[in-house]
Amino acid sequence: MDDLKVLLSREQIADRVAAMGKQITADAKGEPVIFVGVLKGAAIFLSDLVRQVEVDATFEFIAVSSYGNRPDPSDELRRAWDSTGEVRLTKDVDQSLRGKNVVLVEDILDTGLTLTFLKRLLLGHKPKSFRVAVLLDKPSRRQLPVDVDYTGFAIPDEFVVGYGLDFAEQYRNLPDICVLPIASNGTG
Ligand code: IMP
Ligand code: MG
Repeated sequence: MDDLKVLLSREQIADRVAAMGKQITADAKGEPVIFVGVLKGAAIFLSDLVRQVEVDATFEFIAVSSYGNRPDPSDELRRAWDSTGEVRLTKDVDQSLRGKNVVLVEDILDTGLTLTFLKRLLLGHKPKSFRVAVLLDKPSRRQLPVDVDYTGFAIPDEFVVGYGLDFAEQYRNLPDICVLPIASNGTG
């Protein structure tokens, strides 16, 4: 853990999450909202975000895995970094979202493959409204354009961990968001 450099402190995160909660509250116009969190990375963000929202809220969780993200013992960090490839749903929502106000909550928008896949899937439910909240955005990594309604922070092309984000399941419980040093940026 000594190599980790703090990119976003817990205080910066808390301030930004509070502001996002206010925005979501304003947009909800008093109607209930279903927050759909993407496991596991968005769990901590969702739990903080919903406590900053002042309308009735319920949660759903969804999980995906990316074929391109399978751990490879010989080059694990590069694999995690280069999260391209097809996205696969591993856990669906437990209820129909038809006619509901939905906010999809994701930890980080990177290539855009995951959110493109999830937006298509959830819009298929025909919700009344559909918005997307991401804590972090790496715009320089985008392969597919994705519209997002609420963004916490745009960050440079670095591999980050903490506040729910992992490297090989590690570091999710760090209270700050930190940069994990990487030898090569593996953008190929
Ligand atoms: P996308 O489909 O490429 O946009 O990937 C989004 C997913 O990749 C996120 O939900 C994360 O699981 C993972 N990811 C992308 N960048 C990072 C990072 O810097 N740290 C940890 N996970 C990341
Ligand atoms: Mg994720």
